[in-house]
Formats: sequence, structure tokens, C-alpha cells
Amino acid sequence: MRIVLATGNKGKIKEFKKLLPNDEVIAFSEILGEMEIVEDADTFKGNAIIKAQTIFDKLEDENVIVISDDSGITVPAINNEPGIYSARYAGEGASDKDNLYKLIDELNKRGIEKTPAYYTACIAIVHKNETYTVHGWMHGNVINKTSGDQGFGYDPMFIPHGFKETLGELPHETKQAFSHRSQALELAKKVLKVIL
Ligand code: IMP
Repeated sequence: MRIVLATGNKGKIKEFKKLLPNDEVIAFSEILGEMEIVEDADTFKGNAIIKAQTIFDKLEDENVIVISDDSGITVPAINNEPGIYSARYAGEGASDKDNLYKLIDELNKRGIEKTPAYYTACIAIVHKNETYTVHGWMHGNVINKTSGDQGFGYDPMFIPHGFKETLGELPHETKQAFSHRSQALELAKKVLKVIL
């Protein structure tokens, strides 16, 4: 089936394509060109719905399946930051690297070397003007340094439960086996089975 992704994040597009090998997965920008979507909800779910609904409305085809993902990392020891602000933690237009080092700075400011953290992913599906949402989580710890260059975003400072290495050091397939996005997508696939 043909699925339009309501994201411009190259890391996510790559992950979704790998997670949906039997489907034609295209980024919205390939059809609509680049476009900014204002994500001003206060939850992952709210922002995922805004993204998917915006692209669905623009495509003007009720049979299209639009999927969006809103995700981020939460660190309870620093007031649940960055949470929904993960993509712009170091400011508007910040790069993944800027955000990663901002989180390391925040840990260092508090003298924290290692503390629990978790990733959340909410996936929204819009089809025939109906909206469906599912969530996935990945728990572990963040450390105040980076190691490895696999994955994207905060992966080089995140050690998932059950491992000694960061996601920057672990093979992509390992992350894919249990990541927040993979878990949410497994649920999303079940939703697609029911609605299509
Ligand atoms: P969104 O594109 O608005 O959902 O922002 C998600 C942000 O959360 C990304 O820019 C990353 O900073 C972070 N993030 C989400 N998922 C991951 C992941 O799997 N690895 C690393 N960082 C992630």
C-alpha cells in the first residue's frame, strides 16, 4: 500500500522505510514540496494529529493513508525536559547535534553523569478523514557524553535498558527491534489492518 509520511525528518523517514518494507512509503515533500507545519499542541499525540491532518487536508484525496510520528526524549531528573520540545531544545532551527549537546549541558549543570530517560513515539494515522493514534516507549538512561554515531538525535547519549552501549554504538537492527517507533508502528499496522 502507498503511505504518505507527514514528516521531513530524514532519520525518521529512513526508519519508517525499513520498518514498512512491503509498502510504498513516501515523504509528503515528494508530493507537496517543502512546507512548515506548526506543531503547537502540548502533547506528542496532539502534535502527531496536527501533522497528519494537515498533510491529509492538503492532499485532497480521502483514500490516501497519511502517517505522522511525533516523538521525543523525556528526562525526569531535569523536570521532564526536553519532552515535546526535543526537536527544538536548543532553540528554533537547532540541529540534532545542537539539541544533543544542550541536553548534555543540562546534565552537567546539575552534576548528573547518568539518569533514567525514555523515548516516546505517538503515531497518528488519517484515512477517510478518521484519525487513529497509538504510542510506543523505550526506556533506559542518558549519560553526560556521546558514544558512537549510529541512529540520530539523542541516540549517542542514550543507553537502552538491558545494554551497556548507547544507541550510537548499537547496530540499527538492534534499535529497530524494540524502539519506541517500532513498537508504535506495530500497533499502527494492526490499526491499518482493521480500517483498510
Ligand atoms: P519531531 O520530529 O517533532 O517528532 O521531533 C522528534 C525529536 O525527538 C527529534 O528531532 C529527535 O531530537 C528526538 N527523537 C525522536 N526519536 C528519536 C530517536 O529514535 N532517536 C533519537 N532522537 C529521537
